Amino acid sequence: MSKAAKTKPSAKTATKKSPTKSSPRPTVVRLADYRPYPLALDGVHLLFTLDATRTLVDCTIDYHANDGRLQKKTWLDGLNLELLSVAVDGKILDKKSYEKNDKGLWLFNLPPRGKITTRVAINPRDNRTLAGLYVANDIFTTQCEAEGFRRITFYPDRPDVMSIFTVEILSDQPVLLSNGNLVESGKRGAQNYAKWHDPFKKPCYLFALVAGDLVDETGEFVTMSGRKVTLKIWSEKQYAGRTGFALSALQRAMKWDETRFGLEYDLDIFQIVGISDFNFGAMENKSLNIFNARYLLLDKNINSDREYLGVDSIIAHEYFHNWSGDRVTLRDWFQLSLKEGLTVFRDQEYSMDNFDRASERLKQVQGLRGDQFAEDASGLSHPVRPTTYKEIDNFYTGTVYEKGAEVIRMLHLILGEEKFQRGIKHYIKQNDGRAATIEDFIESFEAANDMTLDWFMPWYSTKGTPMVAVAQRHAGKDLILDFSQSNNKAKNTLPIPLKIALFDKNGAAIKLISQHKHWHADTAVFLLQAKKDKLVFSDVPAGAVVSLNRGFSAPINLDFAQSAADLAVLLRHDDDGFNRWEAGQVLATRAILADYYQQNSDEFSSYRDGFAQLLTDQHTAPLSLAENFSLPALDELLLAVANQNKKTGADPIKLLQAVRRVRGQLASDQEEKIHARYDATKNVGAVDGRNLVPDDIGGRAINNAMLQFIVNSLQNNKSGDKKNVARVKEILSNHYFKNDNITLKKAALSLINRFSELTGDEELRDAMLSDYFDKIKKDELLFGDYIRLLSGYDAPHTLGVIEQIVATKKIFNPSGTESIDFRLDKPNELYPLLGGLAGNIPQFFRADGKGYEVFLAVVKMVDGINHHTAARLVNMFNSLPQLSAPYKSTMKKHLQKLLKQKISVQLTEMVERTLQG
Ligand code: ARG
Ligand code: ZN
Repeated sequence: MSKAAKTKPSAKTATKKSPTKSSPRPTVVRLADYRPYPLALDGVHLLFTLDATRTLVDCTIDYHANDGRLQKKTWLDGLNLELLSVAVDGKILDKKSYEKNDKGLWLFNLPPRGKITTRVAINPRDNRTLAGLYVANDIFTTQCEAEGFRRITFYPDRPDVMSIFTVEILSDQPVLLSNGNLVESGKRGAQNYAKWHDPFKKPCYLFALVAGDLVDETGEFVTMSGRKVTLKIWSEKQYAGRTGFALSALQRAMKWDETRFGLEYDLDIFQIVGISDFNFGAMENKSLNIFNARYLLLDKNINSDREYLGVDSIIAHEYFHNWSGDRVTLRDWFQLSLKEGLTVFRDQEYSMDNFDRASERLKQVQGLRGDQFAEDASGLSHPVRPTTYKEIDNFYTGTVYEKGAEVIRMLHLILGEEKFQRGIKHYIKQNDGRAATIEDFIESFEAANDMTLDWFMPWYSTKGTPMVAVAQRHAGKDLILDFSQSNNKAKNTLPIPLKIALFDKNGAAIKLISQHKHWHADTAVFLLQAKKDKLVFSDVPAGAVVSLNRGFSAPINLDFAQSAADLAVLLRHDDDGFNRWEAGQVLATRAILADYYQQNSDEFSSYRDGFAQLLTDQHTAPLSLAENFSLPALDELLLAVANQNKKTGADPIKLLQAVRRVRGQLASDQEEKIHARYDATKNVGAVDGRNLVPDDIGGRAINNAMLQFIVNSLQNNKSGDKKNVARVKEILSNHYFKNDNITLKKAALSLINRFSELTGDEELRDAMLSDYFDKIKKDELLFGDYIRLLSGYDAPHTLGVIEQIVATKKIFNPSGTESIDFRLDKPNELYPLLGGLAGNIPQFFRADGKGYEVFLAVVKMVDGINHHTAARLVNMFNSLPQLSAPYKSTMKKHLQKLLKQKISVQLTEMVERTLQG
């Protein structure tokens, strides 16, 4: 790529925005303003004297000036630190040689080479931001990405400052962990002592420390070059016995990274710790990954198949960061997708290689469309590489992660596996031990394959989801596809790789012949490079059916008026499992929208016919087939309606009713087949915690999908066929009480609200909730499951229940005889409470605005405890721009009201951006 295309720091933009007085960090950080840090750090030494309310941190930094000279003052970040002393080369500084403010420390006239020593005191117990060093259930733990290290000590808290860390820990806790190798441990007086040394340079966001009364399960991995690596999974004592799956998943991930990417682990030990209070899923600290315990510790009697698969992929994700993130890190936070997009791509490939490729792919796309597409259509829309931010924590988004992975997937498609791997190899070799940029990444593919890719770069800088309109016509023996691309959020065109196939009516593949210069016959990919283009296939028999954007080859929306008959062919015969599923989704969407617009049409019958065939399908892999029974998510449908009605928007409650009517109609039309399939998939395989058998998982998923239709058959049965209600109730009750398999039980639980909503009968709900309450009442990690059932219930008292939970900090069982504690400062309880409400469409979108009001009142409270989590919760308002009139203005009004209150910078940024939608 040309050097000019690189994001070089430009002197012009840098001087325009002068730093605030207190620190060099402006309120708005800009990619264009990047400047290297003036110091290079030769080594960092940390001594922690741990105490829950007053921990002492002694930090010594060996440095030299990067270019031999230093400016008059040098900046160290520091937040909420009590500075006890600061010294340079052993001499305590007097007040004139430094200046401390609420963001950090200026040091004046540092010598070109030296040693900075600071001593600070911090209070981990009171730190409920869950960033920096904090205490969770009596365990000391850290979270430093993105900017948490500045809450531990004074330091240049930026990813491009890398150093070798040596860490000493003094504590009365029995287990003391940090990154790298243990070099010494024992007693110092009455205290326990450990010293850790990490031989690899790293930025401070990868630093980790854990101290507590933990237990471990140990295993081993022998690397491809024959080195033995000790593996340890740590947990709180009460969760001993839930670490086995994590250990086996880690071993699988290590093996896979060797075979698929040729990447071998580099230290003699790798450890993972599960912590109860954690802001998100997990963190890839060098050789000491720290996880939200909910996403690490599993038990086959407690966790469903879905949770097992999820944990498998998170463990892989964090492990894969060892190369894509740790060994090669980021120059600045704008490059976040360099590690996250790539690592998500890697964990997705891992899951696809291990399970069913098609079903994994369509789950990825469901996630992308439900989450990232909605984000990209909202005021939160931003490019994969943003160019400005106020709070980087607000940019750990679907766009940076999932769309970032899609961008790499397109690159992989364009290059093919061999050239892609050559590029990766080059990238890692060139950037090992360095802080890299997205340009470094793309240049590696260019250098390794002797090609140019600057035309691909707009994917990193363009926000919005492209819409590709396609028209199909025939001229003689030619089949012509007319393409045109547009994007609501950006003007420029993008290079869009569309994988294509043609079938005849019986599903036989038709050979593709095209002379277009952007047609790649070997991969069957057409690269749409222009705003409009025309692709001609010659010698195509009449009636050919087009399969477009196969495997979701590009993250776009298609506007293609394909006939229902053609879609039915694809639904039956497409050998691309993703597109077979997609044909069903398109038919389902049309059926739902026809109902929404109250059009009389035959959309429903086309969908029903395809659906009926699926019910008796015996050849599709069960895992994939199960997904064919799911209707498009409401978020996707909102986008679809809003795209068709730019001015008027979408009515979420009417849309929900349309979905329910379609589902109910299918359920009653196909009753017999649904029950037959339900019966045929009863009791498929028990969960074996360590070996997940794809066909068994698929069988259970089909069984659960059938149950969903059985319950929803009551939708069109309201007139009160009591016998049918009783029958459904019995099936649902048995599904819960007579199955021991937790994946089945959890499916019944997830449908019990719907059953009660449809019938007004709460007896079974009370029975199931009581039973489940007894199961989870001693297990904090599972509270969330129960909480979600309460806040997700569409009943008149639900908002009151939520308010009560927050006010009393207690959650009761249905009979009110027992309670568990609720804590706002525990994300694992808070997310289900508000996530359940946001998914409870009739309550969340209430016309009187009470749903938003209750939600945002909680957000406001959380903001006083943990800004990060408060800000993230605002994502649940990203449907704002799609809403029709009264919904939109009501939601807006409540967000504006929040903005007028005293809230954090993080939360303000999210609310302001949401309102821009
Ligand atoms: N790097 C972590 C991961 O992807 C997530 C860190 C999230 N940090 C944050 N501030 N949101 O696994
Ligand atoms: Zn990650």
